[in-house]
Amino acid sequence: MGVKNRARLSYKLGYAARNPHRIVPYARRLARDAWLRARARDHVSFYRAVMRSDTARSPYGAVGAASRAHWERIGRLQFDYLTGHGLTPGDRMLEIGCGNLRAGRLFIRYLEPGHYYGVDISPDILLAAQDTIVRDGLQDRLPHLTLVRDLRLDFLPEAYFTVVHAHSVFSHSPIQVIDECLANVGRVLAPGGFFDFTFNRTEGEEHNVLREDFYYRTDTLITLAAKHGLTAHLMDDWERTGHRQSKLRVTHAHPDT
Ligand SMILES: C[S@@+](CC[C@H](N)C(=O)[O-])C[C@H]1O[C@@H](n2cnc3c(N)ncnc32)[C@H](O)[C@@H]1O
Repeated sequence: MGVKNRARLSYKLGYAARNPHRIVPYARRLARDAWLRARARDHVSFYRAVMRSDTARSPYGAVGAASRAHWERIGRLQFDYLTGHGLTPGDRMLEIGCGNLRAGRLFIRYLEPGHYYGVDISPDILLAAQDTIVRDGLQDRLPHLTLVRDLRLDFLPEAYFTVVHAHSVFSHSPIQVIDECLANVGRVLAPGGFFDFTFNRTEGEEHNVLREDFYYRTDTLITLAAKHGLTAHLMDDWERTGHRQSKLRVTHAHPDT
């Protein structure tokens, strides 16, 4: 949170002075990302290549977890929060950017068979998601896992999903990707349904770091949702979970739509 701009040179120099052990990994990431960006035609292809490279090293690390225990803890946090805020076993859930099912594996076990639908832009992480299904013995819960190239969601049925969830996806997305999602999610969202997503919140200037981590003001996203006939509000009690991202809940602006 706060007003700091991580893209500024002054911030980077201060951070490097405080964390000298991070300079070499950061320089490697900078070089790798420059290489991948030069070969990618758009953000999604770039981020897919980032995920390929990161997943080859560790599927846990690729979704932002420092260890298997951390991966389990953040998955549990998402699950406990959502079951405490409206998710029931009969819901039909769409998880955008499902990764290797850090929380998905808990949703899959909890929901009725066939009620979980995960989409992701990365084939590598979706293969890792299959490994999670096998490891957790979730085959008979019949989860759907689908590769996507955009967030138009046009292959999914209208007014079908009662819950849509995206954790730590828009924190890696330029505004055009978020706009595309908000322009289309209302079509697949059932009347009375909701869409929860996390984002990196800044109170200052909006910015990104290496085109991998994006920081937005809350108002920007609320205004964007309104442009597409959706109402968004900040989930205040999520802030007390200690997670460093913030969470918005989006619903149809007119409940009977
Ligand atoms: C930090 S990981 C989080 C994964 C999962 N939500 C979790 O909490 O473990 C971000 C995931 O979003 C996926 N992703 C990034 N941009 C996406 C987009 N535009 N559409 C769908 N998935 C996306 C990435 O491939 C990655 O699996």
